[in-house]
Amino acid sequence: MSTESLFKPFQLKTLNLRNRLVMAPMTRSFSPGGVPTPEVAAYYQKRAEGEVGLILSEGTVIDRPSSSNDANIPHFYGQEALAGWQQVIDQVHAGGGQMGPQIWHMGIMDNHHSGWVPPVPFEGPSGLNRPGFSNGSTMTQEDIENTILAFGQAAASAKKAGFDCVEIHGAHGYLIDQFFWESTNLRTDVYGGKTLAERTRFATDVIREVRRQVGDDFAVIIRLSQFKPSAYTNKLATTPQEMDSWLQPLVEAGVDILHCSQRRFWEPEFEGSDLNFAGWAKKLTGKPTITVGSVGLTGDFFGAFAGESSQPSSLDELSRRMDRGDFDLVAVGRPLLADPNWVTKIKTGRTSELKGFTKEALGELVMD
Ligand SMILES: Cc1cc2nc3c(=O)[nH]c(=O)nc-3n(C[C@H](O)[C@H](O)[C@H](O)COP(=O)(O)O)c2cc1C
Repeated sequence: MSTESLFKPFQLKTLNLRNRLVMAPMTRSFSPGGVPTPEVAAYYQKRAEGEVGLILSEGTVIDRPSSSNDANIPHFYGQEALAGWQQVIDQVHAGGGQMGPQIWHMGIMDNHHSGWVPPVPFEGPSGLNRPGFSNGSTMTQEDIENTILAFGQAAASAKKAGFDCVEIHGAHGYLIDQFFWESTNLRTDVYGGKTLAERTRFATDVIREVRRQVGDDFAVIIRLSQFKPSAYTNKLATTPQEMDSWLQPLVEAGVDILHCSQRRFWEPEFEGSDLNFAGWAKKLTGKPTITVGSVGLTGDFFGAFAGESSQPSSLDELSRRMDRGDFDLVAVGRPLLADPNWVTKIKTGRTSELKGFTKEALGELVMD
């Protein structure tokens, strides 16, 4: 089956992409003290030279004292870290690519295995990371306001540095998702509520502030997931109607693209249709969507964290859905972590040269 539809250009506001393939955001923890190094810049430049359409950075944390649980995860604030990011975007542009940072606040976390802890306790909607596990404080109104501002400032810094878009990390059980989930958001103020629609308030405030700080013409993406690492099979929205009540407020607040995270892109979201999460999100909102999850690989990314390898697999099912118009863009994680030239190899049909993914690739910034 042809992969032609993956190689059509895509244009939206500040995005002028040469193809539909997006590098998924992947935490690498190679930025000591929160500062991206020249090696980090070279790693992203290699993916740009390898013809990735849009690069989304690893999650990079906003200016809150406990937004991170790991000293080697990059900051997106402060002179030194932003100078590191300036190098990254300049080299990505020199390599012919486009890029946006994934701005992130982790919320309530487990302590990192390194033993490093932030200077103040983790913060979240109700101090909970998952039912029965609390490890930090409940955010006050002032904490919430300052966090919303910090997301906006990070987005403004991205625009100022010349990044082509920004992605807000609203997925995978981190801060914004802790507000979405009824099990971690027990608040009784405007940021809580019985319905998922009510619990979008924090996310919509973040989006509005980001939009206010970057203006109308800058592309803003939000990443969302139904699952969390602590609840693989969780669904925030259990019906299309509930999904609509979740996504519409985000769109009204000003996001341009919905990045719909799944472990396996081919899994249907609801019974009675083969549409996946990105398919439903596009159908319900009319907005462009990004799909993701085991594209071109046999195993999923939770397996990767458990040390499993994955072999290359066919892109036929992906192309079938793309040709049908289910989604607009396709994010690829581990194949691009392991091989900067994955896109070029797909484009030129050099499938026998695809590497798959092995756990060794996690231990370094693979350059070729
Ligand atoms: C090492 C690694 C780090 C990741 N870090 C992030 C992250 O910082 N932010 C995020 O939204 N997802 C993160 N993910 C999830 C990926 O973006 C992607 O959704 C997932 O790997 C599925 O895509 P794949 O099957 O193509 O690898 C990470 C995945 C991996 C393997």
